[in-house]
Amino acid sequence: MSEYEMDQAGDSLPNQEPFEEQPFKIELAARVHRLPPYMFGRINTLLYQKRRNGSDVIDLGMGNPSDPPENVVIEKLAAAAQDPSNHGYSKSNGILNLRKEIASKYFKKYGVRLDPEHEVITCLGSKEGFSHMCLALMGPGDTAIVPAPYFPVHTYAVALASGNVISLEVEDSEKFLSNIAYTCEHLYPKPKLLIICYPHNPSTVTVEPEFFVEVVKLAKRYGFMVISDFAYADVAFDDYQPPSFLAAPGASDVGVEFTTMSKGYNMAGWRVGFCCGNAEMIRGLGTIKGYYDYGMFQAIQIAAIVALRDTDAAVEKQSQIYQGRRDVLVDGLRRIGWEVNPPKAGMFLWAKIPEPWRSSMSTMDFAMMLLEKGDVAVSPGSGFGEAGEGYLRMAMVENENRLRQAVRQIGRCLEKEKAARLVTS
Ligand SMILES: Cc1ncc(COP(=O)(O)O)c(C=O)c1O
Repeated sequence: MSEYEMDQAGDSLPNQEPFEEQPFKIELAARVHRLPPYMFGRINTLLYQKRRNGSDVIDLGMGNPSDPPENVVIEKLAAAAQDPSNHGYSKSNGILNLRKEIASKYFKKYGVRLDPEHEVITCLGSKEGFSHMCLALMGPGDTAIVPAPYFPVHTYAVALASGNVISLEVEDSEKFLSNIAYTCEHLYPKPKLLIICYPHNPSTVTVEPEFFVEVVKLAKRYGFMVISDFAYADVAFDDYQPPSFLAAPGASDVGVEFTTMSKGYNMAGWRVGFCCGNAEMIRGLGTIKGYYDYGMFQAIQIAAIVALRDTDAAVEKQSQIYQGRRDVLVDGLRRIGWEVNPPKAGMFLWAKIPEPWRSSMSTMDFAMMLLEKGDVAVSPGSGFGEAGEGYLRMAMVENENRLRQAVRQIGRCLEKEKAARLVTS
């Protein structure tokens, strides 16, 4: 059609007629409807409302570190931000020196050799990388095995990539492995992907290196890929050292591992994560990321190099701080009659709700009661799927005094509720 003809056609378009305007309907894509309502929404709404009304709520809900990164890292960020050459688009897979630094950390800490060009990619926080890796690997008809209870992204990144999820309970590691084998023997088509996370969020389950050796054997036998979410690599207690999946022989043939600077380095808001391991999986993630982002602010990448290179002692000290908080919380809760296992690593306590509450109210209602009447916010286990029902997750993100206070408030709240129940029964 010539420009003249288009003009003529435009003049006679029927939609020039007046029409009765209806309220415009926005139709979101089906993938948005596949996501469940945000399980922590009720808790968060009440938490903000209470804070607005002046209540000093102790918030043990989210694993959001409350301590700052080291000064030397903040100073490097400020200096790098002054350099005009750091303000353009960066590289979506991260600057090479940062990738070299994480490769060098893997070698120092785990004896794992990585090629920083092809076996390392940086992400805008590990959650972004994890979600896009699922998009790179999964599609309609593909199935992923996910540990239960689940960190929500482990399940919903697969769902967003149109994949199916099979949840297997993670509490007993031997059983988890045999259930993986059983699923692979009986499911057709076989699972394409296994997601693992140790130290596990939320259950705090940890494993020894031999576990990953078995995972690699299963992956090779049944032909599934593996994503290891190693978010709590740097937060460990007593003499426990969380092992890396990539240290297992052959791990890089079958999978990748995500790490983050959010937890051990107190850099959660900076959004610095890494994916390391299998070069083809990393190439897939890089391809997807190339379409979605232009990489992390370069000044942040430069400061992250300093954090990785020069702040090992601070990371160690931060673990000791979490260990002290763990002891305060475990001792306090045991004193008021709760059954809790001290975690060996991570930022959380995974506590069984005590009786009579466990059998008489939902986990969500119990958590709401602690917030409403005890001014303590925790995450109800049911927010991590059915396997979390009957448990609470407490993030050790407040200082020891505040944690002692939290236990007192929980104890008082439950005593009062018990007394009120006696009066009404
Ligand atoms: C198991 C697990 N994976 C990933 C993340 C996300 O970490 P990042 O801040 O690197 O996106 C978290 C954060 O809470 C987590 O608990």
